[in-house]
Amino acid sequence: MSGGRGGWRVGAGGTVGGTLTVPGDKSISHRALMLGAIAEGDTHISGFLDGEDCLATARALAALGVTVERPAPTEVRVRGVGPEGLTAAAAALDMGNAGTAMRLMMGLLAPQRFDSILVGDESLMRRPMLRVAEPLGLMGARIQTTDGRPPVRIAAAAGLRAIRYELPVASAQVKSALLLAGLAAAGRMHIVEPAPARDHTERMLRAFGVELLQDGRTIAMEGGQVLRGTPVRVPADFSSAAFFLVAGCMAADAPLVLSGIGVNPTRTGLLTLLQRMGADIRIQARGGEGAQGEPAADIEVRRSELRGITVPESLVPLAIDELPVFFIAAACARGETLVRGAQELRVKESDRLAAMAAGLAALGVEHQLLPDGMWIRGADTFGGGRIDSCGDHRVAMAFAVAALRARAPLAIDDVANVATSFPGFVDSARAVGIRVEPLT
Ligand code: S3P
Repeated sequence: MSGGRGGWRVGAGGTVGGTLTVPGDKSISHRALMLGAIAEGDTHISGFLDGEDCLATARALAALGVTVERPAPTEVRVRGVGPEGLTAAAAALDMGNAGTAMRLMMGLLAPQRFDSILVGDESLMRRPMLRVAEPLGLMGARIQTTDGRPPVRIAAAAGLRAIRYELPVASAQVKSALLLAGLAAAGRMHIVEPAPARDHTERMLRAFGVELLQDGRTIAMEGGQVLRGTPVRVPADFSSAAFFLVAGCMAADAPLVLSGIGVNPTRTGLLTLLQRMGADIRIQARGGEGAQGEPAADIEVRRSELRGITVPESLVPLAIDELPVFFIAAACARGETLVRGAQELRVKESDRLAAMAAGLAALGVEHQLLPDGMWIRGADTFGGGRIDSCGDHRVAMAFAVAALRARAPLAIDDVANVATSFPGFVDSARAVGIRVEPLT
């Protein structure tokens, strides 16, 4: 174990099967809290992700004067304060490990008439914030970073103006921050995406009554629109289900069914990739998308003979958070897999390319780390060993799944941050057959 940050021992081999659901979607939970906060009237959120990242957002909003009630861990009522109702926080807002929370809060706070400071944990304090600070600056926001990183200091604004902005990277966080700031700006925002990134903000803004036009890669929105509180039903997080989709391909002798999973097409690139590798995955759509228009489905997966593929770069943004576990799928596929155009992985909660390459090396998987991706030669099984998750939740969970094809147990260090996105992961993994145990 490293520094009291928790560890797991994961037994080698085994099979998985059964029916499982996973906690609520992290991206949608953050957005529901923030849009609810600046709406007029109440927003009731069900299926909320009771994980550390979303709780950081809830605490930040409470510090800004918003009443956030939690009648149950996954039920939240946000008492909207309206577009001008946020008030200055008494201290710096601590966003913990949550990059989405910090970047979206920058958009929410940039137009406010008071100062704010945003900080986070060791990982978040290293992450790039200029991608949001710069375009917000073009709108008239006054934001200071430290060499492009947090702490982020936002000075009281004297009114923002809408801009036309072409995103240099496909980033839903940047797009969403600009939309949040644009709500309080004078004029019409135009945001041009280089490739589609997750569109939860656009869908949810519409559910809150905002008019938003999409023309190809361009999103247009008039400033000054007022949001109306609305019920939000959060589907289960596809990114959390992803670990079990890959586990199912590797070891589901009996079918593994994941129920009520969000299948917004801007999130499900991993399904396409696994299907191209030959995965036996069946998708049963659930009716009724809920007021905010987020589709959900039951997904059934069985053990499959996977074949290596070259990943089309266009699918990378649609599978960005699933690439760590996709590398595990590639490690047990027949033949070679190549991922390029994934340099964004280097600035996630950890440098995910480096962290995954180090773990694959520990297991004896033949691979090559590239500046913007990874080449992997799959094998039927691999060794066990010690893995450093680098404090990254998705790296830790990806290697827990890898144990299904290992010949010896894995020890995974520094797993406490799994609670940011998937509280209860150990219990869920054990319930379907993964032999993971917390180390005490
Ligand atoms: C997210 C967007 C993605 C993703 C992150 C969640 C969001 O980040 O990796 O986990 O909720 O908007 P980028 O916008 O940096 O690509």
